[in-house]
Amino acid sequence: MKGVTTVKKFLTVLTAIVLLGLIACEGPAGPAGKDGAKGADGAKGLDAGFVYFEGFKADIKCASCHNPDTDTTFYKAAATFQWAASKHANGGTAFESGASCAECHTTEGFVQKMNGMTVTQKTNASPVGCFACHSPHKNGDFQLRKSTAVTLFSNFTGVADYTFDYGKGNLCAQCHRPRTQTVKLDPSKSTATNDTIKITSTRWYSHYGVQSQMLMGKGGYEWANQTNVVSSSFHTTSTSIKADGCTICHMTTAQGDYSGGHSMKLESEEEGQNTNGCKVSGCHATTLTSLDYKSAMTITHKNLDTLKVLLATAGWIDTVANGTKAVTITPSNKAGAIWNYFLVEHDLSSGIHNTAYANSLLRNSIAKMRGQF
Ligand code: HEC
Ligand code: HEC
Ligand code: HEC
Ligand code: HEC
Ligand code: HEC
Repeated sequence: MKGVTTVKKFLTVLTAIVLLGLIACEGPAGPAGKDGAKGADGAKGLDAGFVYFEGFKADIKCASCHNPDTDTTFYKAAATFQWAASKHANGGTAFESGASCAECHTTEGFVQKMNGMTVTQKTNASPVGCFACHSPHKNGDFQLRKSTAVTLFSNFTGVADYTFDYGKGNLCAQCHRPRTQTVKLDPSKSTATNDTIKITSTRWYSHYGVQSQMLMGKGGYEWANQTNVVSSSFHTTSTSIKADGCTICHMTTAQGDYSGGHSMKLESEEEGQNTNGCKVSGCHATTLTSLDYKSAMTITHKNLDTLKVLLATAGWIDTVANGTKAVTITPSNKAGAIWNYFLVEHDLSSGIHNTAYANSLLRNSIAKMRGQF
């Protein structure tokens, strides 16, 4: 026992000498060691299926983003303020967080979807934010989470789905795309005279994110004997738009309070309309000041209004919009007018995304409702 005590005493003295030595003769600090390799993700604290830690990139410099004093690497703070003014931040639909909605309406659901996991119901979810479109901690930069082409449901019997491939716009189309519809129109019956379609859904349309289809010039109902040729605008094939997609118009340098940048708006109260994206080389004249190019928006609104009156007179539009009763339409192809109405209406660009397409669909729908073909 005595031996053990002696050894203990010796160790205590030795520790004291070492510590004193450290304090007394501390040399200059050596360079900081490299960050260790990322540890395995822990199971504790992570609710499987809800969150999974994407981790931090090795050697990541936190201050290249989290440094409000000199935020010049990525200008992250500015992006945050612009985003805060966007509908992504404050549109209020993050509560649409059920298993079939969360992939587009919440950051958590989108991250899950993009990681190939089953999207689950979310509680206290956050709206479409930085970590939806980027994965800054995992990547150490702001590269986009999604860049490959996106499949868009055609929602017509016998018509194959479409492939949307517009560069950076592919990220947008991952959410701004149609959802499926069970009662479908069949374009091969566009001249049939006595078949029927029964619409019971109050949401008989391709949801709200139809901008991707509209830009491509797809997703509208066409009749074999229609009176107006259906074509697409320059926007559909422009090489600049093919490369940058939606961002070329929606994410120009931010201005006012706010348009452009991460606000993704085309107008700000302070500066009015933002036509910077329109004036990209090879597109519109640099003198362009209005988004209502050649009165495109005015014409689209007129056509939408005319069609809406015709659909209301037939008793159809209120049925679909308010869901008061089921409606049976004979022949089925006439319902194409309802379909086209909601496609153009939900696109929300007043025809700007694809003026020729939007308005030729509307004109044919009006003519169809008037019995002109
Ligand atoms: C490439 C940019 C980037 C880098 C580098 C970065 N972050 Fe972040 N981080 C962000 C962004 C963007 C957010 C989202 C919130 C915001 O806008 O501030 C964020 C949020 C956070 C948050 C808040 C999380 C929350 O739930 O609100 C913490 C904590 C954080 N980062 C820590 C770190 C640490 C620690 C490092 C370094 C190991 C780091 N970050 C490196 C971009 C970055
Ligand atoms: C993770 C899904 C998601 C992605 C990715 C996404 N959006 Fe959105 N976006 C939404 C949702 C959901 C809304 C509606 C938000 C609300 O009202 O709460 C929205 C709203 C918008 C609005 C405002 C619409 C209005 O009614 O005023 C614009 C503009 C917009 N997005 C453009 C874009 C662009 C451009 C991109 C690509 C750079 C993009 N979005 C990527 C989901 C997404
Ligand atoms: C494929 C992506 C996607 C899915 C899945 C999705 N949404 Fe949306 N939803 C969007 C986008 C994008 C918008 C915004 C479009 C815009 O403002 O132009 C939107 C808009 C909405 C709006 C706002 C409409 C308005 O008038 O402003 C509601 C409400 C909504 N969605 C409900 C739902 C519900 C409920 C579900 C699930 C049953 C769902 N969404 C699933 C993409 C999606
Ligand atoms: C709806 C999708 C979306 C959301 C949400 C989003 N971003 Fe972005 N972000 C983009 C796109 C698209 C680009 C590329 C724009 C371009 O190249 O024109 C981008 C670019 C950036 C850049 C410039 C990157 C560079 O290398 O120059 C920064 C910084 C950035 N985002 C930060 C943020 C921060 C911070 C947030 C959250 C407050 C955020 N983003 C939220 C889509 C998004
Ligand atoms: C050629 C330029 C251009 C392109 C490309 C473009 N947009 Fe737009 N977008 C506009 C204009 C202009 C408006 C109308 C803005 C207004 O009324 O203030 C608009 C309106 C919208 C709106 C409604 C916004 C609101 O505040 O009501 C959404 C959502 C939207 N675009 C999403 C997209 C998506 C997603 C893409 C890519 C699939 C896209 N846009 C491509 C120019 C463009």
